Amino acid sequence: EIKACLFDLDGVLVDTAKYHYIAWKELAESLGFPFTERDNERLKGVSRVASLNILLEIGGLTLPEEEKTQLADRKNNRYVEYIAKMDSSEILPGALEFLKECREQGIKVALGSASKNAMTILNNTGLTPYFDAIIDGTHTSAAKPDPEVFLLGAQALEVLPEHCVVFEDAEAGIEAATRAGMFSVGIGSPETLNAANIVVPSLQQLSVSSLRESFATI
Ligand code: BG6
Ligand code: MG
Repeated sequence: EIKACLFDLDGVLVDTAKYHYIAWKELAESLGFPFTERDNERLKGVSRVASLNILLEIGGLTLPEEEKTQLADRKNNRYVEYIAKMDSSEILPGALEFLKECREQGIKVALGSASKNAMTILNNTGLTPYFDAIIDGTHTSAAKPDPEVFLLGAQALEVLPEHCVVFEDAEAGIEAATRAGMFSVGIGSPETLNAANIVVPSLQQLSVSSLRESFATI
């Protein structure tokens, strides 16, 4: 039985992946190397510090910690400029409808995001009132694929992992859900998200009743 739905934020509920990409690309280019959309796939769902390490590896750079902190801050400042202008038009197709449907059907709703900017995004897009619990990058000590963020979400909702469904667009997030002992829904392409229990192109293609049917078959 499904008692709770736990949603990733970036790339599942809102279209912020493009801003992360632009901000990282600007940083890479300022350091003198190119950064492609394909490179960017490796950063999805990964924490800010881990993302910077991957980016520097792509550019073949090794830098002292202090300089890395400055670069991570520089990227974040650019990203914050972009998300400051966000509004509800950047909620992904079907996301709001699905959140409403969950609530109508008595399913609890939590956020499980790696981002330290989650509250700004939820407030600017008007999504905050749809959540019973919010776990973001300011609450966690271990990043996805560690299951911590989703286990904390389930705990806050007082629901056992076996009654939880996780919605994720990142491979690391699907792995985190599996390690938490939760059913996972991949949002995106089946090639990258093949470890998920089911995959849909967006939340627009899913209803709570069809989710319940898939959940019942496992
Ligand atoms: C995740 C994004 O949700 O949050 C990653 O998919 C990002 O791309 C991570 O690096 C951390 O976000 P922030 O806003 O704390 O830098
Ligand atoms: Mg994501």
